[in-house]
Amino acid sequence: MTIANTPESGAPASDAVLESTTGDPAVSTEPAATLVGTGGEWWRSAVIYQIYPRSFSDSDGDGIGDLPGITRRLPALGELGIDAIWLSPFMTSPQHDAGYDVADYCDVDPLFGTLGDFDDLLAAAHGLGIKVIVDLVPNHTSWDHRWFREALAAAPGSPERARYLFRDGTGPNGDLPPNNWQSVFGGPAWERTTNPDGTPGQWYLHLFDRSQPDLDWENPWVRAQFEDILRFWLDRGVDGFRVDVAHGMVKAHGLPDYTPPADAGSMGGGVVGLEPEIDANAALDPPSPPYWAQEGVHEIFRAWHSVLSEYEGDRVLCAEAWVEPLTKLALWVRPDEMQQAFNFTYLSAGWDAAELRLVIDRSIAAFATVGAPSTWVLSNHDVVRHASRLALTAENPQGHGIGPDSPGLPDPVVGLRRARAASSLMLALPGSAYVYQGEELGLPEVIDLPDEARQDPTWFRTDHERYGRDGCRVPIPWEPGEPTYGFGPDGSTASWLPQPRDWDGYARASQEGDPESTLSLYKLALALRSSHALGTRELAWLPGYGDDVLAFTNGDVTVIANLGAAPVELPVGDLLLSSEPLTEAALPTDTTVWIRTTL
Ligand code: NOJ
Repeated sequence: MTIANTPESGAPASDAVLESTTGDPAVSTEPAATLVGTGGEWWRSAVIYQIYPRSFSDSDGDGIGDLPGITRRLPALGELGIDAIWLSPFMTSPQHDAGYDVADYCDVDPLFGTLGDFDDLLAAAHGLGIKVIVDLVPNHTSWDHRWFREALAAAPGSPERARYLFRDGTGPNGDLPPNNWQSVFGGPAWERTTNPDGTPGQWYLHLFDRSQPDLDWENPWVRAQFEDILRFWLDRGVDGFRVDVAHGMVKAHGLPDYTPPADAGSMGGGVVGLEPEIDANAALDPPSPPYWAQEGVHEIFRAWHSVLSEYEGDRVLCAEAWVEPLTKLALWVRPDEMQQAFNFTYLSAGWDAAELRLVIDRSIAAFATVGAPSTWVLSNHDVVRHASRLALTAENPQGHGIGPDSPGLPDPVVGLRRARAASSLMLALPGSAYVYQGEELGLPEVIDLPDEARQDPTWFRTDHERYGRDGCRVPIPWEPGEPTYGFGPDGSTASWLPQPRDWDGYARASQEGDPESTLSLYKLALALRSSHALGTRELAWLPGYGDDVLAFTNGDVTVIANLGAAPVELPVGDLLLSSEPLTEAALPTDTTVWIRTTL
């Protein structure tokens, strides 16, 4: 077998030809997974790029990214070839959880700019053909929100307190919390208030930091407020919402005690890993923790669906719901609820061909039962970046993060190679894919942040036992050269989390035009995904490959990912993309190729 004109990784490869007779991709004896219910809506196949505003681009040199900074850099995203951006929160907030603690849902925090800056960003994005999704945080507010301040000032039993989950304590003097729930960030999920006369008062629930009191979504007043907030942003022209903690808004009646399994991921009550066989009858099995995945949340999203339907265009709701199994997650995207849900089962899968194949099959099948596309995601602002995570050699539950003393730290070379292969696999799948800022640069997790720089509440609430999520939130590099690699304007000297000193090679400008760079690989993958309509076609597994190999067709593209040690022979066809430069006609370890099938 020989390869003619093997392209460099990431380089267009229309003239490259593989000559082989093995693994004829035209023939599949495997059942094809079917993507049903495909309407023409843009979000069914979109590639959506997550911007974490504080770490994307800083226009004013205060060390924190902002909206004008994003607007300035939008052309680079247009060149990357994404369809939409999702902006993590930029609303008014005291920033105890990096903006996921909102004090005013209808204004922009001065750190990030003004509503006028947001309108400019939206217009610029739309001018480039890029849709804009904003983050909505409905499970909890900031303790600085007027609603909560009024609740604290009001008496127990008042309508103001009924906005939140205030309860009397237990024990002799109400000194003990109302139940045993633990916060996602560590420590108890209840905080005691102090009465105006200085005596200890009621407790309030906070599934996250104590600065993030949970709203009571059984209260119609709360529901009405959020429908107004949806309309506020829809009227401004946003294309949709990513909905934070969309599995946690409704709690079980009576708030019963619950102890999660020891290996539960922090954002979900369930154990992260493979879910039971897909079985419609098992959709509500296993039972949910009393604060996650309660049936009552669905009524809320049906109401929101109606609100979005009042607006022109295909507006979208995407659920951040750490729910397993996938059959249960699919309930969030029934036709009259949300449009998308993040596929965290896929993100949580190991670098293991059998596991990935199972998750891919189950994802497509589960979402197809409700007419929704599957989504795919490998990184976001809450997980260890996949260029590091895929090479970890020790268990690392979501949210714990990694730092200098973590066991099983990754080999960065192996991590990047696997990340490039994993991204090339993900971007070939039918459905919608999410890309987290910096993954297109191959950025690793920053492991050695100084302790004094860390800001994630997880780090503080666990007494430094868990590093938390700062390592994936370090501002991204644009141009080579310290001190901020172009993140801030000329003359700015610091970013809110310090960037490593060896990031010149990761900078976007360093990678532009280099056919072997990770940036070039993403650009090529996104261009080919679009020109071959991979987002809307169907996946069919190819027979004849070993257990360590994922091989399938999607439309006229054959995708082969080798996760094993032994090289894999390649079939006949035009090589479109390779996650690593190929030196011979066999696919080496941790490499993915896309081949146009020769029939
Ligand atoms: C999920 C968000 O992604 C995370 O960053 C945040 O800390 C929690 N929800 C609480 O809002």
